[in-house]
Amino acid sequence: MSQPQAVTVLGATGSIGASTLDVLARHPDRYRVHALTAHRSREALLAQCRTHAPALAVLDREEDAAWLRERLGEAGLATEVRCGPEALVEVSEASEVEVVMAAIVGAAGLLPTLAAVRAGKRVLLANKEALVMSGSLFMDAVDRHGATLLPIDSEHNAIYQCLPVEHRGGLARHGVTQLLLTASGGPFRGWSAEALAGVTPEQACAHPNWSMGRKISVDSATLMNKGLELIEACWLFDARPSQIQVVVHPQSVIHSMAAYADGSVLAQLGNPDMRTPIAYGLSWPERIDAGVEALDLFQIARLDFEPADEAAFPCLRLAREAMEDGGTAPAVLNAANEVAVEAFLDGRLGFAGIGELVARVREACPLEPADALEGILAADARARREAEAWLGRR
Ligand SMILES: NC(=O)c1ccc[n+]([C@@H]2O[C@H](COP(=O)([O-])OP(=O)(O)OC[C@H]3O[C@@H](n4cnc5c(N)ncnc54)[C@H](OP(=O)(O)O)[C@@H]3O)[C@@H](O)[C@H]2O)c1
Repeated sequence: MSQPQAVTVLGATGSIGASTLDVLARHPDRYRVHALTAHRSREALLAQCRTHAPALAVLDREEDAAWLRERLGEAGLATEVRCGPEALVEVSEASEVEVVMAAIVGAAGLLPTLAAVRAGKRVLLANKEALVMSGSLFMDAVDRHGATLLPIDSEHNAIYQCLPVEHRGGLARHGVTQLLLTASGGPFRGWSAEALAGVTPEQACAHPNWSMGRKISVDSATLMNKGLELIEACWLFDARPSQIQVVVHPQSVIHSMAAYADGSVLAQLGNPDMRTPIAYGLSWPERIDAGVEALDLFQIARLDFEPADEAAFPCLRLAREAMEDGGTAPAVLNAANEVAVEAFLDGRLGFAGIGELVARVREACPLEPADALEGILAADARARREAEAWLGRR
């Protein structure tokens, strides 16, 4: 029997990280945990080290790393602890690692995810912000370094399953006319712009179908998540924004679809449980048990569809426009959104202010080519400065 594959889980203490560890633990014959990383959640990382005994654990700050080292020593565990952004890159590109789950939230995931791609790993991409920021550079690196890129966002994972195995080179080449990107509509589906003005972070984070981290929960509520996913789909599947239709589907049972020239529409269905796309990404082209309950269509009974309300939720339009503008526009959009979401969660910005801030930062930042990492990171930094300045002026 072959050796278990070594897996690094970036963002292990998050929602996707925990689901990944759940799937890995079901298949000790196939996978072993090489490294687990977190930002500040040292207690949670300690608990994961006790259960999964990784060779390496990474935290952001040395003080947290020292704390973890001490606890692990007391427990008689041999896990080595490192810290800082360089350590994230090291555990992503290490020669013994075969699979990297990219599940850090936000721009902080870009460098380690890109390092995994450049080292030719199987990269399970949950960290959509990394691809949104660096689109063509990222996809070029996948091709150049022979990485295997598997989308973990449930929508992109669904489309991946509905497309031919070799799907690069433009949708038309494969007889695909449109990608149908489904959206639950978030907790405020059907709300007017006036009603949205007073929503709280707690309301925004209470997603009807999915249990997720706070940043993506707010993105789902504003529909920026769907906008980021539209950009992600353009890069993953060589699609133009006009070839992607967002379809609000409140039950979150169909995870997305591909429409073909002959009138066929292929859909992937399943319970809303991220362990399905994670297990798919880990085992592709095989299939393994994900611990997910079987879909009961009689219990679901009906599937509804409606268009997205772009007047009440401007973030979707803003994201589409950023993709159409190209260059550093998606990186600027992403950075402005990260600052806006944090400000909303901290009570410094109202819900409607998120789209407004993103729009103002887009206007303030020049459009540059996004063909080098330095330029992308500079655009990200500029957008964050503009966003903070706008917040300060209000
Ligand atoms: N949750 C979902 O169902 C879902 C679905 C599709 C796609 N995604 C995407 O997957 C990614 C992760 O989402 P999530 O919901 O799992 O997020 P989450 O629960 O907030 O977890 C984020 C993880 O990233 C770590 N992290 C945060 N900031 C970091 C930094 N500056 N440096 C290093 N590590 C950092 C966190 O560590 P600490 O715990 O120490 O803060 C945590 O382990 C996002 O890009 C999201 O859009 C998520």
